[in-house]
Amino acid sequence: MKAITRQWRNFVHSRKFAKIGKGCRFLGRDLTVEGHVELGDFVRVRDDVKLRASEGAKIVIGSRCLISWNVIIEAGELIEVHDMAGLAEYVRVRDGTHLIYGTDANWRYVPNYYTPVIIGEGAWVGSGAYVSKGVKVGKGAVIGVGSMVTKDVPDFEVWAGSPARFLRHRLHDLPEELQKLSEELISKYGIKQDRREF
Ligand SMILES: CC(C)(COP(=O)(O)OP(=O)(O)OC[C@H]1O[C@@H](n2cnc3c(N)ncnc32)[C@H](O)[C@@H]1OP(=O)(O)O)[C@@H](O)C(=O)NCCC(=O)NCCS
Repeated sequence: MKAITRQWRNFVHSRKFAKIGKGCRFLGRDLTVEGHVELGDFVRVRDDVKLRASEGAKIVIGSRCLISWNVIIEAGELIEVHDMAGLAEYVRVRDGTHLIYGTDANWRYVPNYYTPVIIGEGAWVGSGAYVSKGVKVGKGAVIGVGSMVTKDVPDFEVWAGSPARFLRHRLHDLPEELQKLSEELISKYGIKQDRREF
């Protein structure tokens, strides 16, 4: 992307946020931001992302997060995405839903209700996953492609499926082949150094 285009996009998109840190980058032309949305430092936002907070609600995205193509985050109360978390393409995060119980009224006419959602520090939410109301995705947790997350995911656990279920812990009780793979790849390539300061 040409520097001038990049600067123009940064200028136009930055103004959409209630609060924005330093060094954020907008890699796409289309970005919808409605209501109170905060970004930390060095957040990367790709094309066609929609961030919508209703009146009185907030979306708070921490530093060094990646919000990939076609992500939708809609808050009726509060959605927090903590530092270094990554939302892959087509991820949806919503903290509410229509009231469908105790009435046969059409979904358009019933109230919505909300419970905050937290995506923990360094969590990685795979492509097309849906994170539902009230869910806390733990620090360093991983959510598989296409999952429907309806329950809290503890720190460093991998959950997948619809509804999402525990697959394994990232560090404990690994099957022998995964332990071997991990040792081989880390000894060959190492772990990249974190180059930016917060
Ligand atoms: C969740 C994930 C990390 C698991 O990877 P893994 O540990 O290598 O898992 P495996 O492929 O060995 O599968 C382990 C089991 O989980 C199941 N599984 C894996 N991913 C799944 C998913 N997304 N949904 C449902 N089940 C899944 C497998 O079918 C397998 O089940 P089995 O033991 O009954 O046979 C990976 O599948 C994934 O979804 N990665 C995210 C990729 C992504 O979104 N990239 C975007 C670019 S940033």
